Amino acid sequence: MNTKKVRKAVIPAAGLGTRFLPATKGIAKEMLPIIDKPTILYQVEEAVNAGIEEVIIIISKAKEEIIHFFERDERYEEYLISKNHPEFAKIIKDIATLAKITFVYQDEQKGLGHAILCTKQAVGNEPFMVILGDDLIVNRSGDNASKQLIDAYYKTGTSILGVQTVDEKVTYKYGIVRPGEINERFIEVLGMVEKPKTNPPSRYAALGRYLLTPDIFDKLEHTEPGAGGEIQLTDALTKLDCLYAYDFVGERYDIGDKFGYVRAVIDFSLEREDLKEQVSEYVRKKS
Ligand code: UTP
Repeated sequence: MNTKKVRKAVIPAAGLGTRFLPATKGIAKEMLPIIDKPTILYQVEEAVNAGIEEVIIIISKAKEEIIHFFERDERYEEYLISKNHPEFAKIIKDIATLAKITFVYQDEQKGLGHAILCTKQAVGNEPFMVILGDDLIVNRSGDNASKQLIDAYYKTGTSILGVQTVDEKVTYKYGIVRPGEINERFIEVLGMVEKPKTNPPSRYAALGRYLLTPDIFDKLEHTEPGAGGEIQLTDALTKLDCLYAYDFVGERYDIGDKFGYVRAVIDFSLEREDLKEQVSEYVRKKS
């Protein structure tokens, strides 16, 4: 199989986040903290843990706080050390040294497909992982979602969509796969429908993780605006000669959705030694 090593990940984070207004007027959706850690830091950690060497974050002028968050601040580190908080100094140093991070601007929010096209130069002619900035996925029993998709790519050599089955009632929210042959967790993709209003072709929904081969850029360049007037990644994917989906293991939290965010805060707090007792007692009392 002719595959190249997957070295780069792209995190699209330039969207407007209208579902989370008014907070997203003042703070990037991807910076919303799950307790004390911004969502985008989880995404960068997922990439690093999957063996990625360079992370490319897509932002807009309005979201430059993300650049500042990943910048090293040695004066702040020194201040924390002088105040006897070396542990906090280490936390903020680690953020800036976790990975090689570069930024690409998307000047107009013309959709996810358009955002990915903005990284053409930065990615170059190699396969890359896409981790949506507002989709947090946790696999508590093994490899993270990005690692699972990268390994799937090494088996097929094609672009891979990360999917899971969703309830039929919510298929209208997602890109839905028209499946061909299914082999364990691999699903041959015969077509896709973005946010089907009726008759979804299956319950396999694309959920925030994609492994893309570089031929996607040519397809994106020739993709007209689709659903919602946006350039849809889904439309470009269906133009590829061969595409597979992989039914990944993990629990997904849509941080751009209010209930998805609340679920993440509750679940993550119930897993933390410093919070779980207090929070579970509190939730029990309230329900
Ligand atoms: P979403 O569709 O969930 O983000 O895109 P959105 O457009 O910000 O959300 P709403 O519907 O207005 O609330 C998934 C990811 O793709 C990025 C977003 O930042 C998010 O992380 N995105 C989306 C871009 O980078 N550019 C775009 O033009 C659209």
